[in-house]
Amino acid sequence: MEKRTDWYEHPQYYEAIFGTDTVREVDFLLALSERFGTGGKVWLEPACGAGRLVEEAARRGLRVVGYDISEAMLAHARKRLTPAERRRVKLGPSRMESFADPALEGQVDLAHCLVSTFRYLDSEAAARQHLEGTRRLLKPGGIYVLGFHLTDYERARPEHERWVGQVGEDRVVCNTNEGLPERRARRSAMRNRLRVTGPDKDWLIETQWHFRTYSSAQAAKLFRDAGLRVLSCFTFDYDMDAPVERGSLRLDRVFILQPDAVSQPEDAPPPAPASSRKAPKKASTPQKRLKTSR
Ligand SMILES: C[S@@+](CC[C@H](N)C(=O)[O-])C[C@H]1O[C@@H](n2cnc3c(N)ncnc32)[C@H](O)[C@@H]1O
Repeated sequence: MEKRTDWYEHPQYYEAIFGTDTVREVDFLLALSERFGTGGKVWLEPACGAGRLVEEAARRGLRVVGYDISEAMLAHARKRLTPAERRRVKLGPSRMESFADPALEGQVDLAHCLVSTFRYLDSEAAARQHLEGTRRLLKPGGIYVLGFHLTDYERARPEHERWVGQVGEDRVVCNTNEGLPERRARRSAMRNRLRVTGPDKDWLIETQWHFRTYSSAQAAKLFRDAGLRVLSCFTFDYDMDAPVERGSLRLDRVFILQPDAVSQPEDAPPPAPASSRKAPKKASTPQKRLKTSR
């Protein structure tokens, strides 16, 4: 068995596990944009990775700006686009803490950052810089869709998830562990192991890092401090008909954020066009805990 580190150096295996929800995610983002945002065509994806969502959005005619710190992920993202998609997409290296583009200020209809990537930002200052920077790029009425897991600080056991994927003849088994939350340090130790086996391959790609932790109250304070208000909140089920209800124990959250100045009056429910008001809620599927992470 050959040992390797950093799964982001191996985008094809990362995507074999994490790329399976792509179409559903873009459907969900489009529906959110119609219901809560401008419905416009300019999207931004901070930490866009290997570009699965960039490609799917561009395929549907949206104009997409994406950035990431990993050159390997960006190279994979560029390679996957058709010439027509490339004309609608701008990709570049940058960090979530500091991304800025004067030409993009006030131009973005929808920004999104799903699958807990936001938790890489390892301090309150870094998280706030990222949110404030992204807020400045939004159009009036634009939204930032931010998906990550909240932390149960009382949790007494590590979390574990296992997923299986396939790349050609290679089988990919992914095991992710989240250690116990360190309440004072506001972080959890993370470990991901990708075992890749095929006709001429037996790899173990192991990646370790820390994720920042958020209780519901900690997330709410951060959003407020960054000048964003929460219009609504969903789960990783990506079900428009099942917003998270007050007191829900679900920890997987997709926050719909909008700059304070243009948000709705405090108690008004977010407007829903008649076409998007659907039948009563159905039961939600089991919670995906971690499908996230680095
Ligand atoms: C879980 S992947 C998500 C990729 C993509 N958004 C997706 O949904 O498939 C996390 C990505 O965040 C990038 N990343 C981590 N920390 C970052 C930072 N501080 N600034 C920019 N990108 C970062 C990694 O390189 C990686 O590509």
